[in-house]
Amino acid sequence: MEVIIRPDKEKATDLVAKIIAKAVQHKPGLVLGLATGNTMEPLYAELAAIHRDEKLDFSLCRTFNLDEYVGLKAEHRNSYRHYMNEHLFSKINIDIRNTHLPSGTARDLDSECEKYEQKIKECGGIDLQLLGIGKSGHIGFNEPLSAFFSRTRVKALTPTTIAQNSPLFEKPEDMPKRAITMGVGTILDAKRIVTLVLGKAKSEILAKAVEGPVTSMVSASALQLHPKCVVITDEE
Ligand code: F6R
Repeated sequence: MEVIIRPDKEKATDLVAKIIAKAVQHKPGLVLGLATGNTMEPLYAELAAIHRDEKLDFSLCRTFNLDEYVGLKAEHRNSYRHYMNEHLFSKINIDIRNTHLPSGTARDLDSECEKYEQKIKECGGIDLQLLGIGKSGHIGFNEPLSAFFSRTRVKALTPTTIAQNSPLFEKPEDMPKRAITMGVGTILDAKRIVTLVLGKAKSEILAKAVEGPVTSMVSASALQLHPKCVVITDEE
């Protein structure tokens, strides 16, 4: 695992944007794993700016998001499909049919998870997976004690994650308590992983993830096992 510390949030975010842009230039049909959350908003704005100003071409890219809330329709303003359309997909020239998120409203959630894994396989696997880390140490929604070989499945969210994300909901109590998430095993299968973690509030969990023991109590510590994982962070 390589850890790169940039002086501030903007420089760390710019570096991740450059890495993704270079990967897309190198392989126009890149299979890109994507994350949502506050950390990613400026990153997606930067990618949209690179597309606008430097004509970065996403037309052949395929994307797979890490997760989606159970029970939220795609049109719901807090769904991750809505987030991705708003922050990235509507601002670049990606073919929306090539963008994938699990459906949180599928009637059979288990079969939805299996289908998602299958689709990733059919696309040849994820070339570059973008990750953030939650305060619980989660990657995707793999909360503590997720098995390192887990695949896409439904997970119950911990109180820490509910406290982290519920303020984004109009009525915080409406935040779903379950999500579909790629498993730790699914994430570790990506050929390359780029993790962006910013700010003082994440410093303690980041230290555990990169310097602590590899343990399912901190899902992000599994990244230490990946042969090609870079963590980009700021001084704070
Ligand atoms: C969301 C996801 C999560 C977030 C993490 C950090 O798709 O995968 O693991 O990356 O919760 O979220 P922020 O950036 O909001 O602190």
